[in-house]
Parts: sequence; C-alpha cells; structure tokens
Amino acid sequence: MPIPKAELHVHIEGTLEPELAFRLAERNDVSLPFRSIIELRKAYSFDSLQSFLDLYYQMMQVLRTEQDFEDLAAAYLARAARQGVRHAEIFFDPQAHSERGIPIDRVINGLSRALQAAAERHGMTTQLILCFLRHLPQHAAVATLREAEPHLDRISGVGLDSSELGHPPEKFRDAFAMARDLGLRCVAHAGEEGPADYIRAALDELNVERIDHGVRCLDDGALVARLRREQIPLTVCPLSNVRLRVVDDLAQHPLRTMLAEGLLVTINSDDPAYFGGYVEDNFTAVRDALGLGEEDIRTLARNSFHASFLTAEQRSRYLAEVDAYRFS
Ligand code: ADE
Ligand code: ZN
Repeated sequence: MPIPKAELHVHIEGTLEPELAFRLAERNDVSLPFRSIIELRKAYSFDSLQSFLDLYYQMMQVLRTEQDFEDLAAAYLARAARQGVRHAEIFFDPQAHSERGIPIDRVINGLSRALQAAAERHGMTTQLILCFLRHLPQHAAVATLREAEPHLDRISGVGLDSSELGHPPEKFRDAFAMARDLGLRCVAHAGEEGPADYIRAALDELNVERIDHGVRCLDDGALVARLRREQIPLTVCPLSNVRLRVVDDLAQHPLRTMLAEGLLVTINSDDPAYFGGYVEDNFTAVRDALGLGEEDIRTLARNSFHASFLTAEQRSRYLAEVDAYRFS
C-alpha cells in the first residue's frame, strides 16, 4: 500500500477520464469533437496552461446531471484511495458549469453524495474548495459566492484558478474578503506560469493561507525566505508542471531545491486524467527522477497533513499513520 497522504490540489473536472467522458457524452446526448478515446488522448499534448484549459473546458460539456458529478467524484475518490489518499481537499469550478446552464446546487449535490459515500467506502475524509475562474471579472466571482451561500456547510474554502498571466490576484480582492467574512478558508493558484510577484500578491492582497503551485517563488530570494519563515504551504504538481511546460522535464523540477530551502511543499496531481498520473504516480515519478529517499517521501506525506485544513485531532491521527508506515 502506498504511503498515507492528503491530496490538496486536484480539480475534480480534471479527473474526467476519457472512458467516462465518452460514457457521459452518450448518456447525455452530447457530441464531442473526437471520434474515439485514442483520438482524444492524442489531444493531450499541451504547450502552455491555456492550451490545456481550452480542452479542459471543452470536455466539461459532458457533465450535466447531479449523477454525472457524483460519478466523476466517485471515480476519483476510488482511485485516490488506492493511491494512499486518506484526506482530499477537492477543487471545483462552478462558473465553468453555470455558464453552460448547470446550476451550482446540482454540482454541489452530486459531488457531496460521492464525498459522503467515500467516507463509508474508503474511510476517507474530504472537503470541497470552490474556485473562482480568474479569466472572468470579479463581479462574476462575487455572484458565484452569493449562489454558493446556501451550501456553505459543504464548502470549506475558496480558491483561484484558470488563466494566470494577465489576471493578478489583486483583481479578486473583494471576492476573497467576502469569502473570509463568510468564514471560508482561502487559497490561490500563483507562480505556476505567473511571476513570483503573484505569490506575494496572493498572500498580501487575498490573505491566502496556501499557495497552489508556487514553483516560481525560487526567482525571488526574499519571497523564499518569507515562505520558509511563515511556513506557507505550496501545493506542487510535478507531472502537471512537465505537461504544461512549466519545467522542461522532471529531472529539472525544482522540488528538491524547494525541500532543501525548508519550504512546506506537498505533492499533488492537479488534473490527473490529463497529466499522466494520480498523486502516488507523482510521488514515484519525482522519487525516481530526483532520487528522493524514503525519509524525503515521509516528509512530503507529513507536509500534506500539516498543510491541510483538518482539525488538530484529525491531523494527529493521520500523522501517526504516516509515522507508522513501513516502506516495503
Ligand atoms: N484549472 C485546472 N487546472 C489548472 C491549473 N493547473 N492551473 C490553473 N487553473 C487550472
Ligand atoms: Zn491547479
């Protein structure tokens, strides 16, 4: 069994495997611009974040009913459980659905049913994080938060994703202030394709507690020192970084440097259906490419629980599982 871990950076829409996409397309009478799974997989060749996002949004058309969202999340959770995930904090993109006429309550109800079942089936804990699409205006984010208000008992936080360049964190200052006033935890994607300054802006202007990706922090020594001092978690996604050309190849990935700098880094899958692997696949890929040892892997697993939004009691229970884990 893989080491127990938390996954803190996974977009549920990015777990849509081609097989399920075609099944849902048929069930919902949606036509996809690909004739076969093989043809679709050929489109999984990206040269930037945007080239991926174009396909990611296109494939979402097959998600229409509450059952679709439940099936999507159930498939992810079953795979995650097999990969040692004990706790998952899952992103979803309600604006990508509402603009297609799918109301937020249908999305949240479907996802929640799968999350509840995963507690019983896999003994996992889960949380949902609502992401604002940063290519859309702030008023759309605020409207989405208003639509989510009746469901806040099932949402633990807000995030910020989609096209990073040209959409700096400060664009969403009011939406994040509102989320914080509602008692939601705050995270944001920053420093994936965008500059180190976006990481600083996410911390200072949005008051986020965690940075998603954050690999570009290494361009700025003062920022690295701050991230280390404040132990701000960075949810790093190695296979994603290779597929989206953030790094040239895994051997060049800055994860080892980030660990050596004393940063609180975690390993995550981002959009595993598109990037060639789930979270344990990311662990083994960086272990092999960067020559990480067993205690590095244990540190990464421990970090994932430290960086999570679990209660102190849940966290210590999971940390004890990590400490008791024996590599075979
Ligand atoms: N939405 C889904 N995956 C994403 C990523 N890697 N970066 C930004 N937005 C995303
Ligand atoms: Zn992401």
